[in-house]
Amino acid sequence: MATVYSLASLKGGVSKTTATINLGGAFATMGLAGANKKVLLIDLDPSGNLTANCGINPASLNKNTSYEVVVGTKAIKDCIIKLEHFDLIPANADLANAPADFLTMYNKSGKQGEKILSQQIWDIGNDYDVIIQDNQPSWNKLLFSSLISSDMVLVPVQPAFFSVVGLGEMIKTIKDVKENFDHDVDYRVFLSMYDERRVLDRESLEIIKKEAGDRLLKTKIRNNISVSEASGNCQNIFQYAPQSIGAEDYLSLAKEIVGI
Ligand SMILES: Nc1ncnc2c1ncn2[C@@H]1O[C@H](COP(=O)(O)OP(=O)(O)OP(=O)(O)O)[C@@H](O)[C@H]1O
Ligand SMILES: [Mg+2]
Repeated sequence: MATVYSLASLKGGVSKTTATINLGGAFATMGLAGANKKVLLIDLDPSGNLTANCGINPASLNKNTSYEVVVGTKAIKDCIIKLEHFDLIPANADLANAPADFLTMYNKSGKQGEKILSQQIWDIGNDYDVIIQDNQPSWNKLLFSSLISSDMVLVPVQPAFFSVVGLGEMIKTIKDVKENFDHDVDYRVFLSMYDERRVLDRESLEIIKKEAGDRLLKTKIRNNISVSEASGNCQNIFQYAPQSIGAEDYLSLAKEIVGI
């Protein structure tokens, strides 16, 4: 059965999408634990940034997207797009309707629509080693859907004033989901876009260490222009710049995660 990771943060622009695609690239191509992994990425952000970063125009998609998967109108296996390194469940703007649809489902039948994604993942879980979900930076039922279908939440934190506030809220959300849905999900935190030369970044690290405790991963993803260039070129960092600092960091992050 695949291990399911969810990249989640209530703050925008902290590297959720970038980490999804680059961890996907690391697991799929770097022979971790002796073999390349079979990887599925799931875009759970209605903006479709992950989908676009994989070279697919979200606006061109029709009815075989993560929206249909999360509300259960299509089987997940019918929405898979096969790419060079990994498979993808793409997203488009339709996904923004999911939280309202879950509410309607609950009012009509008492069914918790947030649990549909877990069942869908269960159905194809044996076809993959790793499944990674990218989320939008919002607190809503779609985020819960992702958290309750995951084994491990990965929370990127960009060193900045108030970053620790967002982190505290995210940790609380994970704990709430654990209790309310009786789902055993753990989490790890990592630093993204870190620049050791900046005093603010070093100070932020100390504050984040206190908040995250032993759940803070040792690997820090450093600021690296190749990482953002890779996204712009619809490639993961192992395709675009395998010798870059970004590739080094994402490989190290993937190894540390597997070692958990
Ligand atoms: N290590 C890095 N070095 C340099 N730039 C980076 C790095 N990681 C991410 N970026 C850039 O930072 C920006 C935000 O990253 P990304 O889109 O992954 O964040 P996000 O958390 O998914 O945002 P959103 O909350 O809007 O979905 C992008 O332009 C991306 O290319
Ligand atoms: Mg994103």
